[in-house]
Amino acid sequence: MEKKQQLYFVVIAFAVFAPAFAATSISEGQDGYSLSRKPEKTTKGWRVVLSRHGATSRYGNDISQIALDVEFQTKDRLRFKIYDPNNKRFEVPLKIESPPLAAPDISYDIELVNDSSLRFKILRKTTGTVLWDTSLADLIFSNQYLQIATNIPSSSVYGFGEHQHPSFRHNMNHITYGMYTRDQSPKMYANLYGVHPFYMCIENDANAHGVLFLNSNAQEVTLSPEPSLTFRTIGGILDFYVFLGPTPENVVQQYTEAIGRPHFPPYWSLGYQLSRWGYPNIDVVKQTVTRMEEYGIPQDVQYGDIDYMNHHLDFTYDKENYAGLPEYIQDLKKQGLHYVIILDPFLSKDEAQGTYRPYELGEQLGIWVNNSDGITPAIGKALPPGYSVYPDYLNPKTADWWTQMCVEFQNVLPYDGIWIDMNEPSNFLNGQYPGCAHNDLNNPPFVPRISDDSLSQSTLCPDSKTYLGSLYDTHSLFGWSEAAPTFRAIQEATGKRPFVLSRSTFVGNGKYTAHWLGDNHALWEDMHTSIIGILEFNLFGIPQVGADICGFYFDTTFELCLRWTQLGAFYPLSRNHNALDQKDQDPAVFGTEFATIARSVLQIRYSLLPYLYTLFFEAHTLGNTVARGLMHEFTADPETHGIDTAFLWGSALMIAPVLQEASTGVF
Ligand code: GLC
Repeated sequence: MEKKQQLYFVVIAFAVFAPAFAATSISEGQDGYSLSRKPEKTTKGWRVVLSRHGATSRYGNDISQIALDVEFQTKDRLRFKIYDPNNKRFEVPLKIESPPLAAPDISYDIELVNDSSLRFKILRKTTGTVLWDTSLADLIFSNQYLQIATNIPSSSVYGFGEHQHPSFRHNMNHITYGMYTRDQSPKMYANLYGVHPFYMCIENDANAHGVLFLNSNAQEVTLSPEPSLTFRTIGGILDFYVFLGPTPENVVQQYTEAIGRPHFPPYWSLGYQLSRWGYPNIDVVKQTVTRMEEYGIPQDVQYGDIDYMNHHLDFTYDKENYAGLPEYIQDLKKQGLHYVIILDPFLSKDEAQGTYRPYELGEQLGIWVNNSDGITPAIGKALPPGYSVYPDYLNPKTADWWTQMCVEFQNVLPYDGIWIDMNEPSNFLNGQYPGCAHNDLNNPPFVPRISDDSLSQSTLCPDSKTYLGSLYDTHSLFGWSEAAPTFRAIQEATGKRPFVLSRSTFVGNGKYTAHWLGDNHALWEDMHTSIIGILEFNLFGIPQVGADICGFYFDTTFELCLRWTQLGAFYPLSRNHNALDQKDQDPAVFGTEFATIARSVLQIRYSLLPYLYTLFFEAHTLGNTVARGLMHEFTADPETHGIDTAFLWGSALMIAPVLQEASTGVF
């Protein structure tokens, strides 16, 4: 039988549907979804209802009827959402505002093609380029396995996070990236601290578009050479936002308009920041700051890692080794420096009764992540002695408690900013005590390509309960949910613009936090991949980002640390940080030659701070990137699409650092 291609309708928001309609003509005999009734117009666009027939898909529990809603949200932003119209499933609680009615004038066309396979296409109107081309017949929407694949117009794909990988422009040769927040030192291709299912694609004619897959379940994406992308997730819905650009900067502007513009950081946080884990006492901190000053090396921020705490307990300080810390912080302020403290998201439950108020108050309020019974707190093992509980920041009561604790603590230690760490959340056990039960949430039929093939390794069990449901759905939102209350706490405590540095991030984190790329290594390779990470987080709307200058793990070397200091002087977030037991690596510790070079490169940074500050203002108000790839400014030149050994600050300054050992220039 001859099958004619039928274009059901298309194109503009208020198009009248083409009358020709044959609900079951196409997919008969196949397994999958087909149209079950004529597309309907909605106030924001249109809706298609699809029914499943044939054999069950690989993991069973297929949803028999699903709906595809297409919303023409703005001229350059389209949303399409595939969901179960009969049962509410988990949806990410990120509010993306959109006008109540379909945008009247749009830069994209939609086609629903009812041919041999039912296809859904998104086109750029001006050029006809097909940005998405997906088979609705082949998609899988089962309870714990959802899959959609699409052809894309070019192989210049950037983004997806958080991962360490060798090039900014992705390798499309069947690479799969898992996404699930994880306390894991960067290693190639593994899922790391944050989750950002967002990519940008530069089309062959140099137009750019971006796509967000708004989903917080454990998931993966496969990049293939056709070129195509396959998204697989184990929960929630298939919720996509497409941003039409057409320039790379326009893509990020449109993306951050949707998810929230980056916060405007305090000026001091753009200065040079010094940190380490393992200052044994306050005298060593003082000596370090003093030698920086003696060499005239600029420094604006000193950090207190967990060493400042008493037994690694949040909201305490060590009154022996760090005696006089409050007064010292005041002294630093007088010298124009700022002090940032670390806080971890676990509260020891094993301190003597009546001695640890943050825990006891939280316990009274019932604000922890709970076991699967929804009543008893999940108990993990983390940095403090004994066992710990985890604040459920998705609960507004927890957010209030946290804010109160931070505000009260500012009266004890007059900190200027807060560094929120370990918020994947990290746990040193495999699931909470006494281990995870065997069930569909802890052991789903399909586990995306994540480290250890485990949803509970180094964290809590997925069947644990939070305010918005199981960690199965909300795990990767943990750090994200801690961000806003911490931001608010600093605002309340200091009355100033907050600085929050977060390790775990999700879509929209940039509104509240900066980010650093985690526990990297003192290796030349890590110095190079830091540029890729910085460019990616600028795409993700978190422009205040840097890597631990000179490397966190391993002892650095004079040469590597010097080169890294030269590169790090141009990180949007310029912080030298080091792990416990590694040799000191502050720029004043290596002697006069090092100090002189460090001072001169940091003085270049400082002379450019008004420019950098302006770029952050533009990021905050317009959504621009701060550090950007060369292809943002020279998109028409394909040579620039693969460059990740150099980058730009805004449109006007290129940084091309030495990244090779024993090299004296960039050629
Ligand atoms: C984590 C952080 C690291 C910090 C350490 C101790 O590993 O990523 O930056 O120094 O914990 O708090």
